[in-house]
Amino acid sequence: MDASFFDRPIERRGTASFKWDLYGEDELPLWVADMDFASPPPVVEALEDRARHGVFGYALTTCSLVEAIAAHFEQRYGWRVEEDWIVWLPSVVPGLNLACEAFAGPGEAVMTVTPVYPPFLAAPANRGRRLITVPAEQRDGRWQLPLDGMEEAVTPDTRALLFCHPHNPLGRVWRRDEVEAALDFCRRHDLVLVSDEIHCDLILDDLAHVPAALAGPGDADRIVTLSSPSKTFNLPGLNFAFAIVADQELRRRFVHPGKGLLPFPGCFAVAAAEAAYREGGAWHAGLLDYLRGNRDTLEAFVAGLPRVRMAHVEATYLAWLDVRDLELEDPAAACRSAGVALSAGAAFGDPAYLRLNFGCPRATLEEALRRLEPALR
Ligand SMILES: Cc1ncc(COP(=O)(O)O)c(C=O)c1O
Repeated sequence: MDASFFDRPIERRGTASFKWDLYGEDELPLWVADMDFASPPPVVEALEDRARHGVFGYALTTCSLVEAIAAHFEQRYGWRVEEDWIVWLPSVVPGLNLACEAFAGPGEAVMTVTPVYPPFLAAPANRGRRLITVPAEQRDGRWQLPLDGMEEAVTPDTRALLFCHPHNPLGRVWRRDEVEAALDFCRRHDLVLVSDEIHCDLILDDLAHVPAALAGPGDADRIVTLSSPSKTFNLPGLNFAFAIVADQELRRRFVHPGKGLLPFPGCFAVAAAEAAYREGGAWHAGLLDYLRGNRDTLEAFVAGLPRVRMAHVEATYLAWLDVRDLELEDPAAACRSAGVALSAGAAFGDPAYLRLNFGCPRATLEEALRRLEPALR
């Protein structure tokens, strides 16, 4: 799939879009994490076929869907996922919440590294658990896991580590030794590692994603992986995700709090997910090339701003901009006044930052940067 596919502007206002329809005609929304690109054509065709059928009964998660998922993980990561390890979820966020309830008791603690995708911060409290946050460290302009801080902050009643891998919003692809260090930490403190790998197919550099489950083959009884095709193929509005839990007892504990609450995947989600995993490869390769170009455009823009910094984005289509030196009272409001809606860093755990979503046509990104320049200079 070449760049012209991703260059094509698609009007999203008026489609009940969370990203676009919350804002006015004169604002460009570069905030919530969906992309402004059409999904792979085979996905659109699968959905059209399904819609044309006209009967929208309960869906079966077919063997063929499971095979498509397993083939994806095996081909890309060398990870052999078995059918009974999969737990269907309506989206990844309920998986984070289930994990908090399943693995920590009332009032016990769950740890995460900040800044992080806001539902990581909300999930423990949602379920009556305590949140322990440890700020990531930056060394030589590169974000690092705060292993010493994690050792200092962990308590005897900490039960799980919510691990964002790759990391939103830091854009880091955790290397094998870092994943092993996180696992070693979990082993020593008897924590469950809940590894949210929803961004794992969005690696922009020549780097390998190492699934936590492969980094710790002997730790199946403490690893829950959360995944979905929704970021990779831009399908978040279809509500489809899954957990991969190899250990039967851990799986039993994980699903228990959701019994009777979680819907089975819908028929459109099933059709789209299978088409995406089976036939989305060329689109996905084109997407990564395109996102790399957007990332480079953004990094060059920020390098020209004297008072804004960002670390190199290795993965995701999200950038984490350090705007503290601008000394703005409300950086997100200043950007909105300039006509661009970004995510306020406070929601992720650090008000000195803004998160910018560059999953859009290059012309949209360039227009947003043109508008932002005076506000960020
Ligand atoms: C790390 C991470 N997990 C989960 C999600 C959301 O997943 P879902 O829409 O499947 O709940 C996002 C969305 O941005 C994310 O960045």
